[in-house]
Amino acid sequence: MTRESWRTRLGFILAAVGSAVGLGNVWRFPWMTAENGGSAFLVVYLGIILLVGVPGLLAEFVIGRRSQRNPAGALFRLSSGSKSWGAVGLFGVVTAIVLLSFYSVVGGWILRYFLASFTGAYFGSPGDYFGVIDFGAQAAGFHVAFLALTALVVVGGVRDGIEKATKVMMPAIVVLLVALAAWAVTRSGADAGLSFYLDFDAAYLRANFFDVLGAAAGQALFTLSLGVGTMITYASYLGDDHNLAFDGSVIAVLNTGIGVLAGLVVFPLLFATVGELTGPAAGGGPGALFVSLAGAFTQVPFGQVLAIAFFGVIVLAALSSSISMLEIPVAYLVDEYGMERRTATGALAGLVLVTGSANALTPALFDFVASTLVDLMLTAGLAGFLVFVGWVLGKDAVAEFSSGAGPRVRSLGPAWLWSIRTILPLFLLGTLVVNLLAVAG
Ligand code: PFF
Ligand code: NA
Repeated sequence: MTRESWRTRLGFILAAVGSAVGLGNVWRFPWMTAENGGSAFLVVYLGIILLVGVPGLLAEFVIGRRSQRNPAGALFRLSSGSKSWGAVGLFGVVTAIVLLSFYSVVGGWILRYFLASFTGAYFGSPGDYFGVIDFGAQAAGFHVAFLALTALVVVGGVRDGIEKATKVMMPAIVVLLVALAAWAVTRSGADAGLSFYLDFDAAYLRANFFDVLGAAAGQALFTLSLGVGTMITYASYLGDDHNLAFDGSVIAVLNTGIGVLAGLVVFPLLFATVGELTGPAAGGGPGALFVSLAGAFTQVPFGQVLAIAFFGVIVLAALSSSISMLEIPVAYLVDEYGMERRTATGALAGLVLVTGSANALTPALFDFVASTLVDLMLTAGLAGFLVFVGWVLGKDAVAEFSSGAGPRVRSLGPAWLWSIRTILPLFLLGTLVVNLLAVAG
């Protein structure tokens, strides 16, 4: 059987943007921003996207397109059969499963908010209605529903599942978000949200530089879906005619733009209604943002319609990301063991059903996985991929980088290789240490 591939170039770009744009943009980004000094965080974060994110994205693309394999198979083959490098790739496959195990729980919350927006069930008292749903049997149930939706797309395969779905989802997300942002920034009281979001607090940054740096690096990798092998896997379905640097830049720009846009909805809306970032109900924490947002919609005209649009956007964004997570281990089983896509998807969904339910039932576990473990795994994973591309592929990586690119992009190849050989892995190692120290302290 020949391996699958994308039908069109746009199809690949939208699928990759779909992977990048997700809960990381609308949920984790505001959460991290709030915990790390607001807009001081934003500036550091944007710098890391540009200097680390884009080169890292290109490194994953190079591995994927050159090998035409899942991460584990890719590193194994491209190193002419090194088991250790294969293990580095396999680490990414495992990370994908860990990631999906918490992401699907949050996806389940959102699904529930979305459905409840149709019935309006929470409009009486969002705090009471949602206050207890974050963890427990309900959370597990909605996690399973969200996971089932994810598996349904992945079963369809690269062209008929992922490409078709994301081609509809991404434009819908952008249109709805632009409309919501235009509405939100004109609310009275929105200014406070905008200034919280966009004002630069240099003093905070100076006092907490390393913490901000660590959090921003983790968030930058998370938001671009780096360090797992999603981008390796998606690029493995590509032909040689793509200009990887161009595609990568488009993906980074769209992801950042949609993230900033989501901030323009979330912050003004919250400050214009509830007047603060985290809701009254939960006293902060991961689920509080949604409670606050739901509360905000109960206080504005046409709130129910707006809530449906808003939570609809988030469901779509979350799904287009979760399918990219599930696709990694599915590609691994299909590539390496010749398993049927359907069998592989079913088996992995069964596994994540269990691991995700553990997160849904155990707040402390969820918190550790979502805010700490994932950062560490992504950082270590990307460092491994960069060292691999820089030192094992070396000149071949530059050739792959250049294939399909014009002379201007080609001339950037050597500088790119130099950076992924030296400063970028060191930077990632540094943030890994900072984040580990934060865990220990
Ligand atoms: N980039 C996604 C988001 O911002 O929500 C999350 C993500 C997807 C991370 C896929 C890693 C990944 F492999
Ligand atoms: Na993202």
